[in-house]
Amino acid sequence: MQRGFRSERLLHFAVYATLVAVSAFSPPEVRPLISAERLAERISELATLITREYSGRSLVLLCILKGSFVFAADLARSIALPVRVEFLGVRSYGDDTKSSGVVQITQDLTRPVDGDDILIVEDIVDTGLTLSYLREQLRSRNPASIKVAALLHKPARMQREVEIDFLGFTIDDVFVVGYGLDYAERYRNLPFLGVLDPASLPAHEK
Ligand code: IMP
Ligand code: MG
Repeated sequence: MQRGFRSERLLHFAVYATLVAVSAFSPPEVRPLISAERLAERISELATLITREYSGRSLVLLCILKGSFVFAADLARSIALPVRVEFLGVRSYGDDTKSSGVVQITQDLTRPVDGDDILIVEDIVDTGLTLSYLREQLRSRNPASIKVAALLHKPARMQREVEIDFLGFTIDDVFVVGYGLDYAERYRNLPFLGVLDPASLPAHEK
């Protein structure tokens, strides 16, 4: 009886531990860098600044797909203004950890933005090539203003000087995944940001 009770409790514990492990999905090849809690805290600070800056104006949050979808969703919900949301699909990477330098628009805006205040929402500014290209492209659509909110900045790899008006975090020259950012389309659903070591991936996944 006693033994049965104990093994039942052990089984419950094993199920519980598995559930915790699944909900806090954390692959071994990703080293945690910025926790979900720290991300939420910083995004709420950025949203306060953005709310203050754009009060009484016609703000369009321009989410750059795909990497910014998580950041944009959290940022949008913390901004206390009636914002519009648009998406721009951009490809600047192959399935690699190095910038190709080639920017391709894969999905365009659904409405004109002339006279609007555009806030470009970017996941990460690395070489700066994507952002400087986007600024050029958007200027020709006659918005009232263009500013940039970027979650991350990797100054070490900067090739093009770009201004970031609202910045989450500055990071070292490491390849990060999670919170929307991918490696070969994977890891976007990690709730935190981590450093991926491609050398630690199995050969068939590199
Ligand atoms: P840039 O044109 O070099 O500034 O690169 C911008 C884009 O490259 C970002 O929007 C990301 O999609 C991707 N990127 C750059 N660095 C990383 C990284 O460390 N992890 C994942 N994606 C990255
Ligand atoms: Mg990407």
